[in-house]
Amino acid sequence: MENIKNDLLQRFRPPAFPGSYFISFEGIEGAGKSTQIKNIMTYLEKMDFRVLLLREPGGTIFGEKLRKAILDTQTDLHPLAEAHLFASARAEMIHKVILKEMEVPGTIIISDRYIDSSLAYQGMARGLGFETILNIHQHFPLSLVPHLTLYFKIDLKTSMERQKTRNAPKDYFEAQGIDFYNNLIAGYEKSLELFPHRIKCINAIVSQEEITEEVKLIIDQLILQPTDIQEG
Ligand code: TYD
Repeated sequence: MENIKNDLLQRFRPPAFPGSYFISFEGIEGAGKSTQIKNIMTYLEKMDFRVLLLREPGGTIFGEKLRKAILDTQTDLHPLAEAHLFASARAEMIHKVILKEMEVPGTIIISDRYIDSSLAYQGMARGLGFETILNIHQHFPLSLVPHLTLYFKIDLKTSMERQKTRNAPKDYFEAQGIDFYNNLIAGYEKSLELFPHRIKCINAIVSQEEITEEVKLIIDQLILQPTDIQEG
């Protein structure tokens, strides 16, 4: 397994805006991200946070155009082309949306996928390696990472079964074979190993209610952490 240097890893930090947080949701197809995002948005809105949902690729007009170009493509793209396309949509989204919106205290940005998708999909499954992806992201604003990443973990069999019951036409990535999905899972495991403080792994093969309860507890730890303790 490639060894990533500490100085590269340390370039990746969350944005610092008092009272605002950035959370990403990750997982392979069928992990149930969308349902959980919906439940958690409701939970956070009830706590009076201003919650904004972004999706990747996407998040800006430019990003949505890239999304269509990538997901609708019928020809194989070079993995480096893929990695840079996702990264340019991400840079625009950070610059135009995340950094602006987080200035408003009490904002929570939720992103449906973020850098760990690039690490798992392009870094591991497409074989570019983690170092290449991290290098592409090493400069500001791409070096900004979420305060918290929730990885919804399911096994390959569950993913395949859930994809079958959806019966929707497959996009560029969904049409890949079993090896691709095994590598994706390995990619997410590697992200977890490299960023243990940022990424929390959630067992996503239990009921949706149980998953939501677990996610709430994890999010509470982030947003209810004590601020400066007053002395005297
Ligand atoms: P989407 O339909 O949003 O997938 P899902 O519903 O599973 O989140 O399509 C996004 C696809 O793009 C998905 O297959 C993952 C892939 N992707 C990458 O390969 N690299 C990336 O950096 C991102 C953000 C997404």
